[in-house]
Amino acid sequence: MKRGSGATASVWMGKADVPSRPALAKDITADVCVVGAGIAGLTTAYLLADEGSSVVVLDDGAIAGGETSRTTAHLVNALDDRYFEIESMHGEKAARLAAGSHSAAIDRIEAIVAREKIECEFDRLDGYLFVPPGESTDVLDKELEAAHRAGLTEVERVSRAPLESFDTGSCLRFPRQAQFHPLKYLDALAQAIEKKGGRIFNQTHAETFKDGAPGQVTTNKGGPVVSAGAIVVATNTPVNDWVAIHTKQAAYRTYVIAMKVPKGSVTKALYWDTTDPYHYVRLQDVGDHEVLIVGGEDHKTGQADDADERFDRLEAWTRERFPVAEEVEFHWSGQIMEPIDSLAFIGRNPGDKNIYVVTGDSGNGLTHGTIAGILLTDLIQGRGNEWETLYDPSRISLKAAPEFAKENLNVAAQYGDYATAGDVDRVREIAAGTGALIRHGLKKVAVYRDSHGELHKCSAICPHLGCIVDWNSAEKTWDCPCHGSRFDPYGKVLNGPANTGLGPAE
Ligand SMILES: Cc1cc2nc3c(=O)[nH]c(=O)nc-3n(C[C@H](O)[C@H](O)[C@H](O)COP(=O)(O)OP(=O)(O)OC[C@H]3O[C@@H](n4cnc5c(N)ncnc54)[C@H](O)[C@@H]3O)c2cc1C
Ligand code: FES
Repeated sequence: MKRGSGATASVWMGKADVPSRPALAKDITADVCVVGAGIAGLTTAYLLADEGSSVVVLDDGAIAGGETSRTTAHLVNALDDRYFEIESMHGEKAARLAAGSHSAAIDRIEAIVAREKIECEFDRLDGYLFVPPGESTDVLDKELEAAHRAGLTEVERVSRAPLESFDTGSCLRFPRQAQFHPLKYLDALAQAIEKKGGRIFNQTHAETFKDGAPGQVTTNKGGPVVSAGAIVVATNTPVNDWVAIHTKQAAYRTYVIAMKVPKGSVTKALYWDTTDPYHYVRLQDVGDHEVLIVGGEDHKTGQADDADERFDRLEAWTRERFPVAEEVEFHWSGQIMEPIDSLAFIGRNPGDKNIYVVTGDSGNGLTHGTIAGILLTDLIQGRGNEWETLYDPSRISLKAAPEFAKENLNVAAQYGDYATAGDVDRVREIAAGTGALIRHGLKKVAVYRDSHGELHKCSAICPHLGCIVDWNSAEKTWDCPCHGSRFDPYGKVLNGPANTGLGPAE
């Protein structure tokens, strides 16, 4: 089975890992085939199964083994792309619909938790948005007004967040946000899908996707085929699309630490600042104490390999503001897909009739994944949904042209890696458990030395659109700097858009 999407472990993993299901062994048919068992895929499968559809879920890793196991699980309508930005890009009505959709997603998670009696520590709580010390609070004024216009009329300006050790200064309070334990939620959701007759298969890699009535998903190198009336590609970033969506979003790596704090020593709430990249903070009970989860330090995937410094900066930021924090108990990183126009892409795959995608999650992927479940269920059942146009994957936002140009120029610049030297000149410079690029004539080779000293060589060319991958020392993966494809040390694909591994070294 594909290992998780990196070598580090989040606070959720370990004790709450979800049991694996068997691999798909024979051809099957279903009303809907969902590829990807993260929050987006499982919510879609659950809601469809609840309406009586026969559903098959395929995942080539573990249930919730993708980015959902690396989240920090703030469930919010306080979006990380500001409401005033969404309003200026898409208009006031769209901002109102976006706010309503995220509020509805939190409500839907709460309703599912109650209905299925899921013990996942779901809790409603306030969220606080503040500016870094010494910076103007104009951004808060603008966001407050835009949030009110978007229908979030209970958002208010307060003099400071409820933190004793650290005066945030004047900030915005977003009421009725929530948090939960993501793996406990998805474990129960998977069981509920099966109780409703749904079938879930692990170790089943979806290889090709054919539109039609029925459509077909082929799996595992010529293995079993799933025929289904509708196909949902919920693989975090679409593995069925070569260009259309990948030029409209960019992959970012974000970093998280969880530091031990005594129970009750920090007021339980969600916190964010407005730095770029911003910090995001919450608490999690881990038994006899809590951990303060702090994230940030994002950079474009594959364009930096200095995780230790980023973890150190997060720790210093936390210690300065929360002197009660003791040792770091967990540290991990994960991947976020940032759409250029601030809204996820959820709906019919451009050019297809019965294939649907969900991507562009940004830092709000748990609510976006839940919105996908609601929206895609309506579309597949032939019902209208007021969010359809807002999240349409085919949309072109002319006002996002500068961001489009910026991200795609950045991608174009990555092809310059063909001309640069390797990371090292000789394989003997590669330490056990690490990887490096080596130049062989005109080609670059991705070389990994395992813990026994054995060398494993792959082509360094990403099978998506041919950029050169880079070594990620924290997660022990090869990461593509262009659109975020990732591969394990031996070249096996972990994240799309590539859907095959790195080729053999020539
Ligand atoms: C550090 C971090 C903090 C975050 N914090 C928050 C937060 O506070 N609030 C929030 O709302 N969001 C947050 N997010 C975002 C959110 O966690 C993600 O957007 C969300 O979990 C993604 O869910 P998903 O179902 O789209 O993808 P995933 O969980 O990645 O699931 C996709 C699945 O598809 C499978 N797959 C891929 N390709 C194939 C294939 N070819 N065949 C079969 N299976 C395949 C994978 O194995 C995987 O299991 C955070 C993300 C990170 C990394
Ligand atoms: S992810 Fe597009 S070229 Fe690698």
